Amino acid sequence: MAMATAASSLYDSHARAHAGEAQSLREERESVHLNRFHNSLKRAVLVHFAAGATSLLDLACGRGGDMHKWVQCDIARVVACDVSSNSLDEAEQRWNSLEPESRGRTRIDWTHADLLSDSGAAAVPTSPTPSHRFDVATCFFALHYFCERRESLARILSVARQRLREGGTFIVCMPSAAMIARYMNVCANEDDDGAWEWDTHAATLALPDGRPRVRFGELIEFAIRGTVVAGHSLEFLAWPSLVEQVARECGFEAVRDWPAELMSAGFDARDDARRSAKHFFPTFDKSVHESWTHVSRLNCMLVFRRLADSQTSSAHFT
Ligand SMILES: C[S@@+](CC[C@H](N)C(=O)[O-])C[C@H]1O[C@@H](n2cnc3c(N)ncnc32)[C@H](O)[C@@H]1O
Repeated sequence: MAMATAASSLYDSHARAHAGEAQSLREERESVHLNRFHNSLKRAVLVHFAAGATSLLDLACGRGGDMHKWVQCDIARVVACDVSSNSLDEAEQRWNSLEPESRGRTRIDWTHADLLSDSGAAAVPTSPTPSHRFDVATCFFALHYFCERRESLARILSVARQRLREGGTFIVCMPSAAMIARYMNVCANEDDDGAWEWDTHAATLALPDGRPRVRFGELIEFAIRGTVVAGHSLEFLAWPSLVEQVARECGFEAVRDWPAELMSAGFDARDDARRSAKHFFPTFDKSVHESWTHVSRLNCMLVFRRLADSQTSSAHFT
């Protein structure tokens, strides 16, 4: 099955299965600690990097879990895109059911788009208003879906670049292949076929081809308890170094210097202070099984600044 079709059916069926689920039930799941921590990091990064922004483009918005953060950041215009129609329907319903005071001055357009295809990319509005481009673009927990080939990663980066104003900010987070490889090297078991599997209380990760190489199209199978990928989900490894390289080719510059207060919100301030990829560093309560800490630490966030056309010689961004 093509990756966009696989992603849309996975997220479509999850949105259907959980459409009417009570919040209290969700809260009971152990994964709530992970979700809360990841939400707190997304919020902290948006509050810092989207301060003063009036428009935001969210690529692969899912069920709209970030809508309250957009309101909190007082962003007037949001365009949120995803390939999963059911996820978009649920997001729109949740948004429409909010009281006007909970929506602030934020307006959201929910847009169906398969960002792996040229026609899907073309469906993403070019600007929030006729006279302005977007101040901020985001792609949270989804960039790895575009790491099958250099071209697919370049396409989504170009979608963001073309729609951002000069100096605009692109914020991404994703499972980091670099950290996955570090953990797998230490913790995984190898089977007779050379596949690696790491089975913990919180998650199972498997690398069908064993030792991962820094390249596009390397597969990983993820199963994280109590999340949309609770069943096994086949995804691509996303290497921060490759993402940074292609982003540079597409006319972005990585923002490496983050303020200490932001790093202390839960990023690895010791190892990643000067790196572009900031890995997550949770400090969960002692009652939370330590495997949730490991699963969270597999993720990282990167922030890019859109360069002016004159500052780049890219073939990708035209
Ligand atoms: C893990 S969810 C992340 C949702 C949201 N950004 C968040 O942080 O909660 C990944 C999302 O990527 C979307 N996605 C995967 N492939 C896509 C594609 N080709 N085009 C658009 N969206 C895609 C999925 O439908 C899913 O909603």
